Amino acid sequence: MKRLALITGGSSGIGEAFAEVFAAEGFDIVITARREDRLRAVQSRLQQRYGSRVELIVEDLERPDAPARLCAELEARGLTIDALVNNAGYGVPGAYLASSWDVHARFLQIMVTAVAELTYRLLPGMVERQYGRIINVASLAGLVPSPAGHTLYAASKAFLIKFSESLSHEVRGDGVLVTALCPGFTYSEFHDVTGTRAMMNRMPGWMWMSAPAVARRGYDAVMAGESVVVPGRLNAAIATLVRILPQRLVTGLGRRIGRAYRKA
Ligand SMILES: NC(=O)c1ccc[n+]([C@@H]2O[C@H](COP(=O)([O-])OP(=O)(O)OC[C@H]3O[C@@H](n4cnc5c(N)ncnc54)[C@H](OP(=O)(O)O)[C@@H]3O)[C@@H](O)[C@H]2O)c1
Repeated sequence: MKRLALITGGSSGIGEAFAEVFAAEGFDIVITARREDRLRAVQSRLQQRYGSRVELIVEDLERPDAPARLCAELEARGLTIDALVNNAGYGVPGAYLASSWDVHARFLQIMVTAVAELTYRLLPGMVERQYGRIINVASLAGLVPSPAGHTLYAASKAFLIKFSESLSHEVRGDGVLVTALCPGFTYSEFHDVTGTRAMMNRMPGWMWMSAPAVARRGYDAVMAGESVVVPGRLNAAIATLVRILPQRLVTGLGRRIGRAYRKA
């Protein structure tokens, strides 16, 4: 029987690319997101191209009861998850006080709580079967100093990195490998959803990666047991520089770059 991968946010961008990589590697797939039409399009493409079984579950992960409901639905369909990709997400642009608490609370629910809860609910089965792969899609933003704005975004991604590191130590001996994937700028619908596309179009093309390249790096990293991975040479160089340069210099640089590109 084929192994089964659950990918959140499988209706576009990096999540859709992950569904394709796992299918190409011989997994059956469960994709979840809110847009059913988009999930169906991914489902039929992967079924045709790879002959995979592709299940879809429509769910809004901003809802506090969503992870429990999603897991109940998996159980009802008799689906046992071997690999989990916590990928669904977005950014809330602007300053912290510019959005209502309700907006922030929903953001934290999908970016932090849903990831922790889905992992918590699916991990026991992986440990029991002595096989599991978990990829938490974090961001380079979780590793570099944060400029003003998108205030909870980098914080939520830093959470995922630390969470993944600890968990990977805890469960490695049980055959479960955990990776925080930290992409830099990646072509997807992300910047359309946050309304920052016009600003981001001013960034040079060499700063961007494709979603399939990012997903491939994430897949290879989790299979190799890397607990944190930064895809792409440029992004990896940035992450290394941030680690080795003096903190004050890096923080100042981050502030200036943030200001410059928001004005551009
Ligand atoms: N693009 C980048 O430059 C970049 C860089 C670093 C990290 N990331 C991270 O990569 C991940 C994927 O983003 P992406 O770049 O692929 O953007 P994207 O193309 O906008 O994809 C986001 C995915 O999340 C799903 N999603 C959003 N809100 C949801 C909700 N309330 N409930 C369930 N699913 C929801 C969307 O599906 P529906 O709209 O159909 O629900 C979609 O499938 C995010 O965690 C993001 O933070 C992106």
